[in-house]
Amino acid sequence: MASYLETAIDIAREAGALLSQHFNRGIAYDLKGEYDLVTEADRASEKLVVERLKNHFPTHSVLGEEGGLRESSSEYIWYVDPLDGTTNFAHSYPAFNVTLGLERAGELIAGVIFDPVRQEMFAAELGGGAFLNGRRIHASKAATLDVSLLATGFPSRKRHQSVNVHFFHQASMVTHGMRRSGSAAIDLAYVACGRLEGFWEFGLNPWDIAAGLLLVREAGGRTTDMHGGPAELHGPHIAVSNSLIHDELLALFSDVFAGRYRYPMPPVTG
Ligand code: IPD
Ligand code: CA
Ligand code: CA
Repeated sequence: MASYLETAIDIAREAGALLSQHFNRGIAYDLKGEYDLVTEADRASEKLVVERLKNHFPTHSVLGEEGGLRESSSEYIWYVDPLDGTTNFAHSYPAFNVTLGLERAGELIAGVIFDPVRQEMFAAELGGGAFLNGRRIHASKAATLDVSLLATGFPSRKRHQSVNVHFFHQASMVTHGMRRSGSAAIDLAYVACGRLEGFWEFGLNPWDIAAGLLLVREAGGRTTDMHGGPAELHGPHIAVSNSLIHDELLALFSDVFAGRYRYPMPPVTG
């Protein structure tokens, strides 16, 4: 399995360099939907990653966000987000990454998330631990929500259907604070290395989370959906944490799902 991870690391580094070149050149974007941006860099990075995977692993399936789908009967499938954080990228906001996750017969076995801005390579393989630039990483030791820093994200597509602001508000009242990085893979990587205690989001896609879920698990964290069921690549939402705060976080979600708001939104005055 080591060769899968090593190859994924090399490909992510190459794609990250390509993203940086585009970033430094200035960025034009198109719209996939009303608010859903895509840049030339998304497409160029995906082309590179899919080509490299095809050369190294010709029998594997590959599912990339920008339409790069190569299906085979192989039990191996690569999930590729060639540029996670496109909205940041398109606004020259330096928080984005490239991420590749590998599943074998329905089980995540390898994943990388590369942030070319900070030159941070997060990597994990099943049973082998999680690493940042070659050094072992672990989820944080914070035991309670009131000393936790959490992150979440909001969808570009179907944003009018998003209920997440309710969860965001409640969590912001009982923690050290909330972050919204604009990159789900970075949020997951930061839970794995202890910069965040937890993260959740509705409506993510398999390529956003495949590598990050494995990283969090291999770093000693816990991954579920927001009700405490299994975290599924194709599920409606995920909740990940350092494991220690997980039950407390799920209890908060349970209240919000049931409409029991611990802290009502203050009325706007003035
Ligand atoms: C998005 C980012 C963002 C999250 C969105 C994702 P993209 O991915 O991960 O943080 O909130 O839900 O779609 O479109 O930049 O690859
Ligand atoms: Ca993404
Ligand atoms: Ca993307």
